[in-house]
Amino acid sequence: MTETLSRGAANQAGAHINKDAYAQAKDFLPLNGIDHVEFWVGNARQASAYFRALWGFTPVAFAGLETGVRDRASYVMRRNDITLVLTAPLTPDGEIAEHVHRHGDGVKDIAFAVDDATSAWRETTARGARSAIEPVELDGGEDGILRRSAVSTYGDVRHSFIDRRDYHGVFAPGYRKIKKPAKAAEGLSLLEIDHCVGNVSLGDMNRFVDYYRDVFGFAQLIHYDDKVIHTDYSALMSKVMTNGNGRVKFPINEPASGKKKSQIQEFLDWYLDAGTQHIALRTEDIVGTVRQLRANGIEFLGMPHAYYETLADRVGDVGVPIETLEELGIEADRDEEGYLLQIFTRPIQDRPTFFFEIIERHGSRGFGVGNFKALFEAIEIEQARRGNL
Ligand code: FE2
Repeated sequence: MTETLSRGAANQAGAHINKDAYAQAKDFLPLNGIDHVEFWVGNARQASAYFRALWGFTPVAFAGLETGVRDRASYVMRRNDITLVLTAPLTPDGEIAEHVHRHGDGVKDIAFAVDDATSAWRETTARGARSAIEPVELDGGEDGILRRSAVSTYGDVRHSFIDRRDYHGVFAPGYRKIKKPAKAAEGLSLLEIDHCVGNVSLGDMNRFVDYYRDVFGFAQLIHYDDKVIHTDYSALMSKVMTNGNGRVKFPINEPASGKKKSQIQEFLDWYLDAGTQHIALRTEDIVGTVRQLRANGIEFLGMPHAYYETLADRVGDVGVPIETLEELGIEADRDEEGYLLQIFTRPIQDRPTFFFEIIERHGSRGFGVGNFKALFEAIEIEQARRGNL
């Protein structure tokens, strides 16, 4: 066991872990977790069918022409503690159409659940955040009042603050509950959002690390330098920011120079801005879930056979036979606290931008640094196929 642990620790070379991060974070907001993530997409009706039939999300609420909304259609999709909102424009003008025109489909809003949306807005704007939505009270009639505000972060992404203390409706005023939802895919364990990763331009990582520290009171949990995150061709740097209760974890990546183009730069070139690169969904059954997702048609990044030949030496017993991990393309990593299993989808829209991660944690609070090199080599094979390396 000791040997396995020291192997795990060796994996962390170049990863600088701050053990006091949670104590250092200042929860003056505080954030109760991620309320929902909103994507702005070209066709929300079809996107909702994708998340329902392939990922097992149930449509729970809708807003659009039938509810008196003239400029957009929104579908609220839920699975356990994960709520996704898919919004498409109904007209060629306005910020949603412009966003989709420029970026393609992507994350617009990573919304926080708070006890007081006005205080959260005041505290963050006083510390330098740019306001996106001033505090408003949305009257939901007999469902009560939902209070909301928002501030901007990297690129066109914003953070809403949602206060549901006096609201009892299904999602928000203006949304109609979907009473008889179509059947969602079954056999999947997808429980909550584990972390959300932002890609920013070269030189901007520290600016947004400072932003999350100064404006939101986050602390830096881990710093991965370009010595650990590099291949023969490309590199990136990453710092992980966390809030005080650890429920919100935001790694921030920036490209680093290499012989060829960093995957982060590929994202920036196609999203045409900083943006959310991936969201990790936590599972308690990665084997069953990935098997079902593959059967449903979800495509994952492939790992080479060589990765699995030496995996047992690096991580020891991870509760799943190595052959099963290889069959499904699941990766494993171990650090001094435990281990994790993870897998990454291919980009889920036509542009090589946003993708999902599925993660199963057994003690480890890390992000799979031992897999970074092999993973980035796998991504480079796909970048080359796209003519983007
Ligand atoms: Fe991740």
